[in-house]
Amino acid sequence: MAQLESIANNISSCFACALSKSRTNTVPGQGSSKAKIMFVGEGPGFNEDQKGRPFVGQAGHFLDDLLASIELSREDVFITNLVKCRPPNNRDPYPDEIKACSPFLDAQIQSIKPLVVIPLGRHALNRWFPGETIGKVRAQERFIDDTYVLPLYHPAAGLHNGGLRSTIYSDFQKLKTFLGSLETTNELSEENPSLSKATEDGEQLNLF
Ligand code: URA
Repeated sequence: MAQLESIANNISSCFACALSKSRTNTVPGQGSSKAKIMFVGEGPGFNEDQKGRPFVGQAGHFLDDLLASIELSREDVFITNLVKCRPPNNRDPYPDEIKACSPFLDAQIQSIKPLVVIPLGRHALNRWFPGETIGKVRAQERFIDDTYVLPLYHPAAGLHNGGLRSTIYSDFQKLKTFLGSLETTNELSEENPSLSKATEDGEQLNLF
C-alpha cells in the first residue's frame, strides 16, 4: 500500500502536462492493493475531478451494477484511468497527455501486479492493442507481459447507446466465465488467492 500511496503522492504533485492546470483534484485510482483485476478507464470527468475518485458519476454507477452482476465490488478490484487529471469539458485525452501520464499507470500495474487488466473503451484499448477496434476485440483475452488483457466497452457507451447495455452485461458474463477458468486452471491458487480474497488481504487505496 505504501507504494500505491507514494504513486498517488507523485501524481498529486505532477505538472507534466496541461491537464494539471485545470484540475481540481488528481484521481489516482481506488481499490485493493492486492487486486487481481484492474480496470483502466479513459480519464476523470466532472464528478471524479471534484471527488478525487474514479468512476463516481453515472458511468461509475453503471460500472458498480456491472461489477455486482458478476458478484464483484469495488473493494475486490482496482479502478484507475489512463490519465489521472480531468480533460477540460470531458474531451478525449490527447496522445501527449496519455504519454505523460503513462509512467503512473505502469507503476500502478507493477505495484499491484494484477492477473487481469481490463481496458475500458477505445483509448485504454489502444494502450495494449494499438490500431484495433473495441467492437472487434471486446471480451477476448490476450496474454501480454505476464498479464491477461481483456478489453470491454466503456460503461459510458451503454449510457449513450441504450442498445449496447445488454451486450455490455453479457460481456461482463464472459469476463466472469474467464475468471472462473483461471480459478479452475489454478492460476488463482494459494500463492495467488481467489479474486474476492483481495478484499480480505489487500489494503484499500482510498485517499478521499
Ligand atoms: N470515465 C472514465 O473513463 N473514467 C472515470 O473515472 C469516469 C468516467
